[in-house]
Amino acid sequence: MTDISSRNPDWWRQAVIYQVYPRSFADADGDGLGDLKGITGRLTHLSALGVDALWLSPFYPSELADGGYDVADYRDVDSRLGTLDDFDAMVAEAHRLGLKVIVDIVPNHTSHQHPWFQEALRAGPGSPARDRYVFRPGRGAHGELPPTDWQSVFGGSAWRRVADGDWYLHLFAPEQPDLDWGDEEVRADFRRTLRFWSDRGVDGFRIDVAHALAKDLTEPLRDIGDLGATGEESLHRVPPGSHPYWDRDEVHEIYRDWRKIFDAYTPPRTAVAEAWVPGARRALYARADELGQAFNFEYLEARWDADALRRLITDELATARTTGASATWVLSNHDVIRHASRLVLPPGTDLDAWLLSGGRAPAVDEAAGVRRARAATLLMLALPGSSYLYQGEELGLPEAADLPEAVLQDPVWEQTGHTRKGRDGCRVPLPWTVSGPSYGFGPGAAWLPQPASFAGYAVEAQAGTAGSTLELYRAALRLRRKLLEGETLTWAPDAPPGILDFARAEGWRCVVNLSDDPVRLPPGEVLLGSGPLAENGTVLPPDTTAWLGS
Ligand code: NOJ
Repeated sequence: MTDISSRNPDWWRQAVIYQVYPRSFADADGDGLGDLKGITGRLTHLSALGVDALWLSPFYPSELADGGYDVADYRDVDSRLGTLDDFDAMVAEAHRLGLKVIVDIVPNHTSHQHPWFQEALRAGPGSPARDRYVFRPGRGAHGELPPTDWQSVFGGSAWRRVADGDWYLHLFAPEQPDLDWGDEEVRADFRRTLRFWSDRGVDGFRIDVAHALAKDLTEPLRDIGDLGATGEESLHRVPPGSHPYWDRDEVHEIYRDWRKIFDAYTPPRTAVAEAWVPGARRALYARADELGQAFNFEYLEARWDADALRRLITDELATARTTGASATWVLSNHDVIRHASRLVLPPGTDLDAWLLSGGRAPAVDEAAGVRRARAATLLMLALPGSSYLYQGEELGLPEAADLPEAVLQDPVWEQTGHTRKGRDGCRVPLPWTVSGPSYGFGPGAAWLPQPASFAGYAVEAQAGTAGSTLELYRAALRLRRKLLEGETLTWAPDAPPGILDFARAEGWRCVVNLSDDPVRLPPGEVLLGSGPLAENGTVLPPDTTAWLGS
């Protein structure tokens, strides 16, 4: 049995981590926004689920220009979400229940409301206060053109002009000015932040946009227009490590520095990189002397296809072996369409266009989506390494694709001139009860409207209900604790086309049917199925996964 006890330094290697999006989890004070007391009050949901840790998306003071990833103070709690005392109480309760706590660190940019940026605005061009950010004069006769053609990930130019004529860089929203990591004060301040939360008992960190901190800011700054792509796409058009701002080699020195801080604690603090870079480069962030893990987004983006998944799984395990990291798996998070909807969209669907159609073109069969999502989850939880779950997936929640335009909050919506709806559809507050003004999320209405169908997905509707998605997750996590040994798997050599079939240690086996036809199961006791099996448990229907004992 894997040892995930509190002092085991390797607890993270095969942990299951549950992502909490604080504003959408549970609202204790009734202002419509989720809060820390809401989370504390619902932690037993996580311990009953059987996860090892929770990762909290940002809860820091923020004007929510980008859902909290615009941080105005890295060492405090947003007053709408609670206080530092509430945070301490939440950590204490999590630890009492045997849950680790991971927090999000957003080092690439601050909020424009951060005191540093406000000071930089006041201090004017050429001031040391501006050196913490990336301020430059513009091009053109009067400096009226941005310094480069760099594009914001959210759409439009990555530069904004301030009143005195200087421009500043923002790879995301204009409210998120990029920091200059060449500045020693910036580095020192983040060390302080890492210690601040570690001292408060936080067990690990998720590092936002980990691949963007180092930038080539030598003059003249380089345009990227000739790469034939902008935004993150441009990363794939240059030799590794040479893009002006994505995934530069120098970024690793920052994480080697942080590792010394993590290792000064017992057990060492863990970290996971959010770095949307190709596999071999991603592995560099996960090296043992850096962050230790990096999200495997190729897995999240993979098609529901046996050959594609087998290749990805094999590659990820091989890559993890080269760095000493453990493999990671993730199917949903607060930035992507929930996998209960995504996995049944026809391959090649333009996801932005689908959201713009309100989820109607093409229409999604919700029941088929949940069936496939359950199969995908049971596959993921059978893999060696650690899995990241996103709140609500244990309920089988679909994407809320038909949110009215008037309620959209994601900056992507405005920044793309209303051509991309953005990520609000996966951030709709959770349903806890089958009735009530926000289905138990809080005493009043929630900050984003919940579809009426959420009532049927509520925790109350599923807890104790045989065959529910929630009970499937609980059963899978219970079994997983008993069954996981080692970090390897062995593929069955004779699996028919469209079938994934592998064995883990102790002879237990996972079989997934990604084909269109039912398939006979190999011999063995069925421990768990993601859906009903046929012919007395001997036949695996399409879009179904089974775990077998020896
Ligand atoms: C990645 C986060 O997951 C996303 O929500 C955010 O918008 C960007 N980083 C910018 O911080």
